[in-house]
Formats: sequence, C-alpha cells, structure tokens
Amino acid sequence: MQIVVYSARSYDRRFFEEANADGRHALTFLDARLDVATAAAASGAQAVCAFVNDRLDAIVLRQLQALGVRLVLLRSAGFNHVDLAAAADLGLAVARVPEYSPQAVAEHTVALILTLNRKIHRAHARVREGNFALEGLLGFDLHASTVGVIGTGRIGGCFARVMAAFGSRVLACDPQPDPEVQALGAEYVSLEELLSRSDVVSLHCPLTPATRHLIDGTALARMKPGAMLVNTSRGAVVDTRAVIAALKSGHLGGLALDVYEEEGDLFFRDLSDDVLQDDVFARLLTFPNVLITGHQGFFTVQAMTAIARTTLDNADAFARDGRPAHPVSVEHLA
Ligand code: NAI
Repeated sequence: MQIVVYSARSYDRRFFEEANADGRHALTFLDARLDVATAAAASGAQAVCAFVNDRLDAIVLRQLQALGVRLVLLRSAGFNHVDLAAAADLGLAVARVPEYSPQAVAEHTVALILTLNRKIHRAHARVREGNFALEGLLGFDLHASTVGVIGTGRIGGCFARVMAAFGSRVLACDPQPDPEVQALGAEYVSLEELLSRSDVVSLHCPLTPATRHLIDGTALARMKPGAMLVNTSRGAVVDTRAVIAALKSGHLGGLALDVYEEEGDLFFRDLSDDVLQDDVFARLLTFPNVLITGHQGFFTVQAMTAIARTTLDNADAFARDGRPAHPVSVEHLA
C-alpha cells in the first residue's frame, strides 16, 4: 500500500523502516504537518499516516478523500484530532494504535512527579554551577501521600500500580471502575472528592467534549492548597489560563505537563532560535514550580516499535479485509 507519513521525524523513519523491512508497503516520509496546505502531497496514496498534531478536520479529510485516500492511520492512541463523523460520511476508514506501551507513559508521569517534587531539575543545574545549597529543594514523601488518578484505563491503571508500590494512598475517578485497580487498595470516589483529598492529581482520561477543561478554575479551587497537578493526557483537559491564575495565587503547589493546549504550534520541533510567540506558554515557563516536557511520554524504544508495527498491521488488515485491525469511529466518543 502507498502510505504518506506526515510529521515524520528521524525516529519515525527509523522505526517504520524497521517494521516495513520486507518492503510490503511504499512509505513516503514528509516532515510537514498534515493540514489544508499539505494534504495535496497525499495524491496517489491509499493511506496517510498522521500524528497527534496533524490536522484531520472535515476540510482536510474531504481533500484526502478527493485525492483517492481511503485510510487514515493514526500512529497514536488518542484520536481527538480527527473529525470522526466527517470521516464516516466520506467513507474514510480511521485506525489507531489503542495500546503500545502504557508503561512508557505511566513511567514518564512518575518521572515528572519525582523530578518536580524533589526538584531534581533545579538541583542538577545548581550542582553543575558549584551551588550545593538545599534552600528551595524541599520535597515531600510520596509514601503515605494521597495520589488521585483521573482515568484508570490502560495508562492510569499502570500508573496507579506504580504509585501503590510507592506506598501512596490511591484515589481514582473513572465512569468505568477497574476491579484490578480496586484490588490495589485504590478507592473510587467522585471527581470533587478526589480533588479535595489528593496531594498529587494525575490526568489519564482521553480528551472528549466531556473532558475538555475538566480541570478549570472551579476544579482547581477544590484542590488541596499546595497540591501538585500532572497532565500527560491531552493539553485541553486543563484550562491553562485558570492554572496560571492558581499558580500565581500560590494555591496550586506545582504543575507538571507533558502536553499543552496549544502544543501544535510548538512541540516536536527545534524552535530554540525563534522568538516564542505563545504568551501563555511563556508565562508557564517563568514559574519555578512548573516542569514541562514536550509530549514525550510515549517515546521509548518499546513503544515506538509497537506503534510502527501496529500501524502497519492496520494497513495490512485494510488491504486484506477492507477494515483496519484497530478501527476508531464516533462510537469511541461515547
Ligand atoms: P484508555 O482508553 O485505556 O483509558 C482512558 C480511561 O479514561 C477510561 O477508563 C475511561 O473510562 C476514562 N475516562 C473517560 N472519561 C473520563 C472522565 N470524564 N473522568 C475520568 N475518567 C474518564 O486510554 P489510555 O491508553 O490509558 O490513554 C489515556 C490518554 O493518555 C489518551 O487518551 C491520550 O490522550 C493520552 N496519551 C498520552 C501520551 C503521551 O505521550 N503523553 C501517549 C498515549 C496516550
């Protein structure tokens, strides 16, 4: 199958070429993001492969369909960036990688919490400058602290297991409680109760219309003073402006992000020579108690290998049966 891979970086090329070592698919790698201006590059292809910040709205999907594209291969678990209703109307199949390595994202979440709590990033910079003072580096024990997990699916469940192993008290909130998470000793409570009791609140739900700005000013006000908020799910689950207000007032004790509402204009590129245009993001960078990584939770060898394999499995199944192995449709939004 002819597949155009958008937003392709050196690492995407490496893992996709490994997964396609037998050359059964013809892969074209494009550095450009998929959007209205670049969709035409898919001319002649049966499939496009897209990442999280590619644009898959109705206009782009219509363009792709007119060019002869029949399959959209998402190389991600999240599918919030696709207009699934429009894809269905156009007869375009959409596939995703529902699970590649939940451990990768859960472990990155733990890395963010440990770094922010114990100020490892600041300590590292200090020690390199010969500053061994401890002022400002005080943390708290995760053991016996209360960690709230919002969304206990694949990643949240894995994260809950790690935090239980730390000896943390785990609170969970999910419309579909998982008995295996309960068996860890986790207690399912309402969102309000989770927010008011947790020392650390970690987000692992998908971005849907119902979870957009789930953490807004009201939710932040419910959080314990000095608590930490961690988001490795999708940026828009958090209202960034409300978070900035909570950080300025001192009510929010710390913020760790791997995702950001407007990350599409920033992440996955080297912009170190450019003037930062996003004033909200710039403000976030000024806080000593904010830690940000650029959407790298998934970025391990194991996860990248699995993503490339499953994406090409989806293409194989579509070529064989006319249906990808892991389709995604509007029903997934329910
Ligand atoms: P999943 O589908 O296995 O689990 C999501 C869970 O969230 C489900 O149990 C669902 O019932 C729950 N949920 C839905 N609405 C909720 C609500 N309003 N409140 C509480 N819980 C709710 O998904 P998985 O694989 O665990 O991924 C979670 C999210 O993590 C993805 O949707 C994606 O946005 C993000 N992600 C981030 C990555 C990164 O690199 N930072 C990589 C992979 C995924």
